Amino acid sequence: MEFRSPLYSEDLYEGYARSSDEDLIRREAQQAAEGLLRFLTCGSVDDGKSTLIGRLLYDSQLIYDDQLETLKKDSTKFGTTGDDMDLALLVDGLEDERQQGITIDVAYRFFRTKKRAFIVADTPGHEQYTRNMATGASTSELAIILVDARKGVLNQTKRHATICSLLGIKHIVLAVNKIDLVDYSKDVFDRIVGDFSTFAAKLDFHGVVPVPMSARFGDNVSTPSGNMSWYDGPALMDYLETVRIEEEADHRAFRFPVQYVARPDLDFRGYAGTVASGRIAVGDRVTVAASGQSSEIKRIVTADGDLEVAGPEQAVMLTLTDEIDISRGDVLSTASERPVVADQFQAELICLTDEPMFAGRQYTMRIGMQMLPATLTTIKYQLNVERLDHLATKQIELNEIGVCTLATAKPVAFDPYDENPATGSFILIDRFTNATVAAGMIEHPLRRATNIHRQSHMVSAGERAALKGQKPAIVWFTGLSGSGKSTIANIVERRLFEAGRHSFLLDGDNMRHGLNQDLGFTEADRIENIRRVGEVAKLFTDAGVLTLCCFISPFKEEREMIREKVGEGGFIEVFIDTPLEECIKRDPKGLYKKAIAGDIKNFTGIDSPYERPEAPELHLETDGEDADTLADRVIDELIARGLLSI
Ligand code: ADX
Repeated sequence: MEFRSPLYSEDLYEGYARSSDEDLIRREAQQAAEGLLRFLTCGSVDDGKSTLIGRLLYDSQLIYDDQLETLKKDSTKFGTTGDDMDLALLVDGLEDERQQGITIDVAYRFFRTKKRAFIVADTPGHEQYTRNMATGASTSELAIILVDARKGVLNQTKRHATICSLLGIKHIVLAVNKIDLVDYSKDVFDRIVGDFSTFAAKLDFHGVVPVPMSARFGDNVSTPSGNMSWYDGPALMDYLETVRIEEEADHRAFRFPVQYVARPDLDFRGYAGTVASGRIAVGDRVTVAASGQSSEIKRIVTADGDLEVAGPEQAVMLTLTDEIDISRGDVLSTASERPVVADQFQAELICLTDEPMFAGRQYTMRIGMQMLPATLTTIKYQLNVERLDHLATKQIELNEIGVCTLATAKPVAFDPYDENPATGSFILIDRFTNATVAAGMIEHPLRRATNIHRQSHMVSAGERAALKGQKPAIVWFTGLSGSGKSTIANIVERRLFEAGRHSFLLDGDNMRHGLNQDLGFTEADRIENIRRVGEVAKLFTDAGVLTLCCFISPFKEEREMIREKVGEGGFIEVFIDTPLEECIKRDPKGLYKKAIAGDIKNFTGIDSPYERPEAPELHLETDGEDADTLADRVIDELIARGLLSI
């Protein structure tokens, strides 16, 4: 499961809560000569997907009844789709995602033949469920893409193939089903295979094996069919039992995201976590990716005693021969094969929620064992999963895939997803609702930023402020258009000026004539508008100036972002609260009239939202008050906060 590493939690590790089901599957898999194969089925019910899965389960009756019972029981406990078995919740730590308010409809089923054990991820075929597919695909080594022989390759087929490829699935079975309904026709089969191959040539698969079949009658599912003498390839089950999947995680570089540091007493310090990839042995040299400090593995401790070697997916506690600085979230690697460490990178994002994602927004990134703030800096394009071309866009919506750049608050260790899905994947979480908003796959780091260093000034912000004899701050006026922001702020500024204070007023209409003249009033443009204004306002405060800002600034996220940028005490949010009806009545610029008539689109309060501040420093209800009185209250607030003494 490639999205697994960001999703582990300490509770899971400490309680070994998942082990019973994992153990059961491991035991089953060990008994099967060819081990375990995880695969995914893509297609819709109409394509015969349920029939196919049903037949595979039915034909492989090797699973023992009592084990079936255990699996069933656990599935009803954790299951996502009724009574279906849902091992993944345990295996993959999806419980975390669930707590973050996301429901993913993927059912996992287990079955075994004499040769091999299987976990099949079954995802809904409906086109909206990109996110479900992505979840299923991220756990799978092979995908069966179902096509109805009568319909051939559809857009949906292409979408499935693209997502499989994006998530790193290399082995594809093209199951051309319902071949009985086209008279077992070789021509139909060849045409479909040709169509699919043309499309798949643009994707990154190691092999596509086409199988003509009838899931309903069993042709070429578990046993070769007598109805298609022209076909000399394997039956599906034959292929699934024998396909060689490289144990890639085994051959990848050693990666160990530290989950927690255990210090039961002064003499023992262990680093707990799960090996994400590669192997490590006692005596090997390891390096902390971010700091570059190295040491040697002293012991590999587990609940069942010490090990000499640990490999992928093993939960262990490592101890080192030297005391070096390591904390939760650090990644240990071998000294010779270190991950990338960067604070900017390009990634593919799969949007998982109804809330669109915008450039300029900040999220919490969970990568490996680390949680840290990350900004979606640019959306380069949206990937069209059916034509594989690029669409220009300013936002990524549910089920869409965007290629984006991101910046993290500090450097993180990772590998490109292509090279190592375990350390190249992450999730983005909404900072306010805690919902998982996107799954990400890192393409490559952006090195640009490493060449830009902050220059220190010889005059500090503090000195500048002291020279002016004042404490700088941003006084942020937010409210509807026509609410009175500019009128009040202008009076405040006049008073500050007369009292000999150094101030400046930044105003929406004015900024939009210059710096922000390229921006309109879509959500994406408003976010960028406020982001730029925030940067400018921050520069003014660095210059020691009391900065007044009048912007509708309809979104809480951006207002909070500026608050965080300036720091506690330096951001005074003043909510100019005038009822919409009153603003419409005043309509100083005649804009409401036009907006109501439909001549202006995206007008705040009419067909564009305004998120009221929840805890502003000052809440001014303007109804029945005159502007001078309201300006006095702003001045009083500044005095009360020690920002002004008049
Ligand atoms: S913000 O939403 O991005 O913060 P800003 O404060 O810069 O907006 O600009 C708002 C001003 O632009 C309004 O006071 C109004 O004069 C003008 N305006 C023009 N079109 C719109 C619109 N669609 N919505 C809101 N304001 C608009």
